[in-house]
Amino acid sequence: MTELEGPGSGAMLLGTASSGLQIEGGETNSSWHEWARLGHVADGSHPGRANDHWNRVEEDTALLRELKVQTHRLGIEWARIEPREGRFDGSALAHYRDEIHRLRSAGIVPLVTLHHFANPLWLEHDGAWIAPSIVRRFTRYVRYVVAGLGDLVEDWVTINEPNVYLLQGYVFGAWPPGSVSIAKYFTGLRMMARAHRAAYVVIHALSSEHNRPARVGIAHHLRVFDAQGSGLVRALTVPIARLTALLAQGLFVRTMTRRCSDFLGINYYTRDIVGLRGRSVAKGRPTNDLGWEIYPAGLARVVRPLYRRYRLPVWITENGTADSDDAFREEFIRRHLLVLARLRDQGIPVERYYHWSLTDNFEWAEGELARFGLIRVDYETQSRSFRRSARYFARVCSGEPLTVGSDRTRTRIG
Ligand code: BGC
Repeated sequence: MTELEGPGSGAMLLGTASSGLQIEGGETNSSWHEWARLGHVADGSHPGRANDHWNRVEEDTALLRELKVQTHRLGIEWARIEPREGRFDGSALAHYRDEIHRLRSAGIVPLVTLHHFANPLWLEHDGAWIAPSIVRRFTRYVRYVVAGLGDLVEDWVTINEPNVYLLQGYVFGAWPPGSVSIAKYFTGLRMMARAHRAAYVVIHALSSEHNRPARVGIAHHLRVFDAQGSGLVRALTVPIARLTALLAQGLFVRTMTRRCSDFLGINYYTRDIVGLRGRSVAKGRPTNDLGWEIYPAGLARVVRPLYRRYRLPVWITENGTADSDDAFREEFIRRHLLVLARLRDQGIPVERYYHWSLTDNFEWAEGELARFGLIRVDYETQSRSFRRSARYFARVCSGEPLTVGSDRTRTRIG
């Protein structure tokens, strides 16, 4: 029988993921606050509003309790911690300490992300992740945060989706700094890899002082790239699809994983079909509100080769879908968890699953349009309401079996 508790790997923890900027609200003087002010967000919304989570930590922790999650991924905003270069804000750190305390008191294991797309403006205007000084700057920030939180946190993501940050900022120009340059893309990859390695060492050193063995990794954005068509077209597009996968993600995993990762953090959402005229969605397949293909089988296709190469525990640090009517989220979750259950049956230690996201939130260039939340947010009133899929996820977190047709799968957690 397929179970979420696999051989020799202990129970899989289920939880939710979020990031600081996408939910907190407030004027933090970050790169994204500026970017939105410059008019680059589709619906004209601004992260200054978001979910007002900064003032609603108690309420949102109660939602997590109600969801019965065992773990939660949250982000620390660098712009709040270090609003001016070298000036650290102790009250911001204390705020995060309080939030993490609340999680732990609720029996929820925190996974903390140190960088999730947004930069303090002073950093953004001084070369951000392209300047070599980023290694020293990031390490200094990480040292401050881990010294202050390391007694409460064991699990860290240093950088969320380095590939997406650099692709959007330097290849597509759709995110800050919007400066298209392939040379900068590769410089950024080098700098992010160095900064991650330096942070990895610092976190381990500080955690051993706290007597809390840390686990540190990257949350990689991985998708499946399949070639289009058949016959000659396919023969021509297979190498293009492979090259795309290598440049858009393979290089990142290779440069940033070996010897400086304690788990394989994977954010998985969809697949792209690569053709002679660019990327598209597989014909006739279901898609979400953003037009992304819903392709659960792809999760196994990204996890398996990575696990074979690195033999590290697998943490699905994000997986979710934009579904404002909540029409297919429940099925989405079920199908993806079943894939993970099978991987565990095959002996792959998938240890964690984080659903993106707890609540609807500020979805970068899409603003408030895309609805990824288990919990619906009315941005005008900031009221939160459970979607049906949230009730379903809560039942799965409590041990309800995953069931698809005649295939009954028992979930055992704990
Ligand atoms: C990012 C999240 C984002 C989600 C949905 C991931 O790539 O880490 O910040 O909201 O995808 O687009």
